[in-house]
Parts: sequence; C-alpha cells; structure tokens
Amino acid sequence: MPNVRLLFALALFFAGAQSVPFIVLHGIGDACKHSGIRNFIKELSKWSGSPGYCLEIGNGSWDSWTKPLLKQTSIACEKVKKMSDLGQGYNIVGLSQGNLIGRGIIEFCDGAPPVKNFISLGGPHAGTASIPLCGSESLCTLIDVVLQLGIYSRFAQQNLAPSGYVKIPIDIAGYIRGCKFLPKLNNEIVNKRNSTYRQRFASLQNLILIMFEQDTIVIPKETAWFGYYPNGALHPVVPVQQTELYIDDWIGLRALDEAGKVKFVNVSGDHLDISRSDMKTYIVPYLTDEASIVPRPKLKHSSGWISSIWSSLAEMFGLNEDLEVLSNDI
Ligand SMILES: *[C@@H]1O[C@H](CO)[C@@H](O)[C@H](O)[C@H]1NC(C)=O
Ligand SMILES: *[C@@H]1O[C@H](CO)[C@@H](O)[C@H](O)[C@H]1NC(C)=O
Ligand SMILES: *[C@@H]1O[C@H](CO)[C@@H](O)[C@H](O)[C@H]1NC(C)=O
Repeated sequence: MPNVRLLFALALFFAGAQSVPFIVLHGIGDACKHSGIRNFIKELSKWSGSPGYCLEIGNGSWDSWTKPLLKQTSIACEKVKKMSDLGQGYNIVGLSQGNLIGRGIIEFCDGAPPVKNFISLGGPHAGTASIPLCGSESLCTLIDVVLQLGIYSRFAQQNLAPSGYVKIPIDIAGYIRGCKFLPKLNNEIVNKRNSTYRQRFASLQNLILIMFEQDTIVIPKETAWFGYYPNGALHPVVPVQQTELYIDDWIGLRALDEAGKVKFVNVSGDHLDISRSDMKTYIVPYLTDEASIVPRPKLKHSSGWISSIWSSLAEMFGLNEDLEVLSNDI
C-alpha cells in the first residue's frame, strides 16, 4: 500500500511550490524589445522564480500611442487566451498606460484565464489631465491636430491612445460623451454600468497600487490610487475613498479594499522610477507564491494627500521618462 500521507505531503509541496507566471504590460512609447523592459522582467523573474512574459501589442512603440485602447485591449485579450502557460491563472504587472490594458483584460475579456494578483505601477486609473510628451515629430504633429480638434473628437479617439483616458475635470460631460475607454472601464456611465466588470475585478486576490511620490507624467499622481480632481474643479485632489467610484463601488475596488486585498503603496521617485529594493518589497512577494500572500483585514490608512496643481493640456512632459526610466534605473 502506498504511503498515502507521504504522497499527500508531496502533492502539497508541489502545489505550494508551483510558480504562477506573470505578464508585463508596458507603458506608452515603450516596446518589449527595449532593454529596460527586458531587464525589468528578467530581474522580477529571477527574484520570484516565476516565468515572466512581456505582452506586446503590435510593434509597441508606435502602436501603443496610436491604437485606441479598446483595440489594444482586445488584441491583448486574444493573446492571453492563446498563451497556454497562463491557463491555470497568472499575475499582471502594469506599467503606466499598460495598467489600463491590464484592467481591460480583467474586466472585458470573455473566456480569459483568471488573473490572481495585479501589481500596478503609476497607472492613470482615474484618468490623467495631460498627454505625455510626444517625442517624435510625427507624433507631435498628431498631437497638435488632436489638440485643435479636441481630445474627445472622433479623430482623437480613433488615432491617439491617451485620448482614451485624458479626463478634463472641467469638461466631464464631454468626457462621458466622447471618451471611448476610461468611462467604460471605470463603469462611470449611468445606465451602462456592467456588473460583470465589477464582479471580475473584485475577484482579484491582491491589488497593489504603486504611486510615485514625484510623478510628473500622470497628473495628478494620486490617479495611481484612483484619486482624482473633483468634477468641475482643478483642485484639490479627492482621495480614493471619497470618490464616487469607490463609495458606490462601480468596479469592485471598495469590495476588494474592505476584504484587505488592496495595498496603497507610495514610493519615492518620478514616474516608473522604481528602485530595486522597492521592487523586491512591493512586487516580488506577489509574484512568488500565491499561497503565501494572505490578505489581512482592512486597517484604516492615513492618506496625507498633497494638493496638486493643475497642469494644462498644452503643458507637456518628457516622454523619455516612460521610455528610458526603467532602463536607466534597472
Ligand atoms: C508600427 O506599426 C504600424 C501599423 O500598425 C505602422 O504604421 C508603423 O509604421 C510601425 N512603426 C514602426 C516603427 O515599426
Ligand atoms: C456586460 O459585459 C459582459 C462581458 O463582456 C457581456 O457579456 C454582457 O453582455 C454585458 N452586459 C451588458 C448589459 O451590456
Ligand atoms: C508618501 O511618502 C512620503 C515620504 O515618506 C510622505 O511624505 C507622503 O506624505 C506620503 N504620501 C502619501 C499620500 O501617503
């Protein structure tokens, strides 16, 4: 007779030791072939012992700027369904704009494998008040056209990815009417709220929201925690727990938070400028072994919000942040 107890122990051991794969969704203007992103994934893989994949959409650099985010999300959705390694569940690490695609996969992608942990770095989850700087001449020309036609024009929505999440606090009506991505993702549209999106997002095991204390790219930086300007005004930033999205729980963020599954993390540095030690502290544990991460009941956290100053749309920032910070830093 086989030693049942031993077999059971071995099965437990292997189940416990089995690593969960992760995918990384890069930011705007970046590409999976860039060395920064490759090193980032390599280090996370090495430290966690889990396989990591960079999920590319089109050719990365150009397509991340120009393909509408609904389109990018549906491409990513088809890709994750075809990756056999993800079938038993996987984790997502989102960088900047990539976070919105990650949430799009979770909320919209029918028949996709389950996402366990979602680790978000500098995500414009509640929108951003500014387009990141263009960088190349053709992109700047495109942005000029968009600024003239309007960010919520059909042209912008079809040709410039960030138009899917630029949220102008003094034009909420225009945003709800014209913006094709974020209002849907955040279940912001009255009468069009889809409980499936909420239910799917609320099924995450852990949601790690990393905000960069000196972020100059996503405006305001608190958007990384789902904080944003109040409707109709340019300040002060409303902390996440006081937003309608949280209070009325449009996407399940409050349910997750009350179950102790959300970590609001604040790291020092500009956009995506994360140190190795912060990677080890805030990312690696969630990639290592799902069983070891047991959510704790919610503790009241103090937020100490710093009021942010409105930056006009025309004010642009160095795109190279998104392109090179990871490679400089890691
Ligand atoms: C990327 O692909 C698009 C088509 O989606 C193409 O128009 C563009 O020229 C390509 N850019 C680069 C740099 O390969
Ligand atoms: C909500 O989203 C799900 C998943 O995409 C979809 O199957 C369903 O038809 C949507 N419901 C409504 C009312 O639009
Ligand atoms: C983030 O951390 C810095 C430095 O520790 C602190 O001064 C600031 O108040 C924190 N911000 C939030 C929103 O917790």
